[in-house]
Amino acid sequence: MNAPSPDYRSRRAAVARQIGPHGIAIVPTAPERPRNRDSDHPYRFDSYFHYLTGFGEPHAWLVIEGSGRSTLFCQPRNLEREIWDGYRLGPDAAPAALGVDTALSVETLDAELPALLDGKDGVWFPYGAQEGLQAQVEKWLAAVRGKARQGALAPPMQRDLCAVLDEMRLVKDASELATMRRAAGISAGAHVRAMQKSAQWLREGRALREFHLDAELLHEFRRHGAQSVAYGSIVAAGANACVLHYRADAAPIRDGDLVLIDAGCELDGYASDITRTFPANGRFTGPQRALYELVLASQQAAVAATRPGARFNDPHDATVRVLSQGMLDLGLLDRNQVGGLDDVIEKKAYTQFYMHRTSHWLGLDVHDCGDYNEPTQLNETTERMDPLTGNRLVQRPSRILREGMVLTIEPGIYVRPAPEVPAQYHHIGIRIEDDAVVTAQGCELITRGVPVEADAIEALMRG
Ligand code: GLY
Ligand code: MN
Ligand code: MN
Repeated sequence: MNAPSPDYRSRRAAVARQIGPHGIAIVPTAPERPRNRDSDHPYRFDSYFHYLTGFGEPHAWLVIEGSGRSTLFCQPRNLEREIWDGYRLGPDAAPAALGVDTALSVETLDAELPALLDGKDGVWFPYGAQEGLQAQVEKWLAAVRGKARQGALAPPMQRDLCAVLDEMRLVKDASELATMRRAAGISAGAHVRAMQKSAQWLREGRALREFHLDAELLHEFRRHGAQSVAYGSIVAAGANACVLHYRADAAPIRDGDLVLIDAGCELDGYASDITRTFPANGRFTGPQRALYELVLASQQAAVAATRPGARFNDPHDATVRVLSQGMLDLGLLDRNQVGGLDDVIEKKAYTQFYMHRTSHWLGLDVHDCGDYNEPTQLNETTERMDPLTGNRLVQRPSRILREGMVLTIEPGIYVRPAPEVPAQYHHIGIRIEDDAVVTAQGCELITRGVPVEADAIEALMRG
């Protein structure tokens, strides 16, 4: 058995410090989820639990006391269950394997928790992370209160552990970044493979459908050891690219189509998230290239705006400026109708073709946890009216970027047909998405193992 990673131990110690010497934190892993009858969905641990333990079995709980002591509750060894469901670590081996101080059978959870809670000043658990958790905690607290006459003292305070863990998870440590770089590299290779297969199959005159490229992605993820996709892969041919939450389906991919692939693997719990849009046959048409170059320029502006000290919203604002100018220049937006660049931005006219945000945090979850507002400035609100809805919006200062944060940069353009929109652009949907680590100087794109320049994509697909 490998020695337990020091990262988990130091994360548990950091939690202990933040809940105070008399606090107690309770973190369950995720439940198993039935798919139908007695078939379950593939098991995926809870991200908070994994962050603190690295332990992947279901039916497990971690308890951290402010003193620094950690207790794991896990499934007991059971030969019959292990014959059917697989190996269990068991409480005897858990302390050496995971570095926890104590490990007990999960079957003793209800008996042990009231004693652990007794005398603490606050109980911390992740609010909203799991259905029924609050009720479960209340049950244990009631058991403590039931022993008040024997001197037991239930914690008078309940606190949200997410507030602590989300801040910790937002800034990635070296081992997390190493895993994320590997995940990004595998996903980049999968996009390269899908691009090459697309051009090759069309050259050979074979019928190509979205699920064929989906299979190529999955093949590449799994053959490099990634356990799963980080989210349902999008493989969208032609007009399907304009459906933002499209999934790889069965539509034919035709010579002359663009293909939008938004796919990334999950490796050792960490997500990657890449989008590339490429011509199925390996050659952009004129209008496809014009829109592609615009989205790429907007992404370059966003990348340049991603650096420590900048705000989370800065890359988005940079993207919107470039895209809006391009929409005017290419005639997607009519100056006579919408006015100049500042009007397009102020009135959000660009949302006809660009309706999503440019970034989200990335980590254990594809849309990772972490506050998008700057916690030190939460009271400094401004109010304004949304020109689209007329609603009053309260705006808080957006998060200040720091070294070690990881975010996606994913501008796009999606042209649904409309009478005033030039026909040559109808049904074109393009998104370009890379994963950025904020560094001391700026940011590092960890997903550039797959080309992004139009010429480089064409060169790759000729090969
Ligand atoms: N694939 C999900 C996203 O790009 O946010
Ligand atoms: Mn994304
Ligand atoms: Mn994506």
